[in-house]
Amino acid sequence: MTMTLEARNIGVKLGSNEVLHGVDFTARSGRVTAIVGPNGSGKTTLLRAMTGEVAHDGQVRINGADVASLHPWQLAAIRAVQPQSSSIAFPFTVLEIVRLGLSAGLSAAESSVPLKALASVGLAGFAGRMYQDLSGGEQQRVQLARVITQVWEPLVDGTPRWLILDEPVASLDIGHQFTVMDLARDYAARGGGVVAVMHDLNLTAMFADQVILMEGGQVAATGSPAEVLTDETLARTYGCPIPVNTTPPAEVPFLLPQARVTLSVQAG
Ligand SMILES: Nc1ncnc2c1ncn2[C@@H]1O[C@H](COP(=O)(O)OP(=O)(O)O)[C@@H](O)[C@H]1O
Ligand SMILES: [Mg+2]
Repeated sequence: MTMTLEARNIGVKLGSNEVLHGVDFTARSGRVTAIVGPNGSGKTTLLRAMTGEVAHDGQVRINGADVASLHPWQLAAIRAVQPQSSSIAFPFTVLEIVRLGLSAGLSAAESSVPLKALASVGLAGFAGRMYQDLSGGEQQRVQLARVITQVWEPLVDGTPRWLILDEPVASLDIGHQFTVMDLARDYAARGGGVVAVMHDLNLTAMFADQVILMEGGQVAATGSPAEVLTDETLARTYGCPIPVNTTPPAEVPFLLPQARVTLSVQAG
């Protein structure tokens, strides 16, 4: 059954700063929803409002229920959150970190899920390594393994669970970007919901079903990648010319910001 994660008229003030204003959108299970927008447009704040980490006006509904009416353990059973960055101050092994995801979701202490989750992010064999000794990209994938461990099965009794990810591929090489985006797509294809803040517009075009473009704390555009990733919309939102192209036959939009440089070289 398709269910939704909905933001209704979300407003957030941080200090005297009105960071979000009147934000509305609906993400559907079975789809990958990408939130994009310039630095400081409010993407992280929106995710933090949706996960209850920051006080907000308006309402967030998950699978039809007001998030404010759910207990933390009920929420933890239906959605897992990967923050934009997580620092860990104590010497934990990779497996210890990933197993933190178990406490919220599954109960079996001897579950094989953490090892499967590590393999799914390309970290089979890393279980015994010290987290602090890993590269930034490896640490980021350990965090994703922890998050996916929490909601390993995308459907529970037919009800979708949700992955909420803030820039999950930010420090990954292109091969691991695809690993992670394939994982997100697979999760949605098996009935779960995925909402991810994305920095890379080409990856967004390739992997997202729905795009929410943020600008100045508001939703500037929403729709399919082809609807949102247009020359006019991107030039207006990002403040520079970004020619959008499509590759036949799939009609997947792709972007060449460097065309700007080429144009000025030709002009000179
Ligand atoms: N604690 C805070 N107090 C005041 N302003 C903040 C605070 N946290 C974030 N902001 C501001 O809110 C805006 C949105 O931040 P953020 O949601 O992190 O943006 P994004 O994730 O889109 O880059 C930025 O202008 C940022 O400076
Ligand atoms: Mg952010």
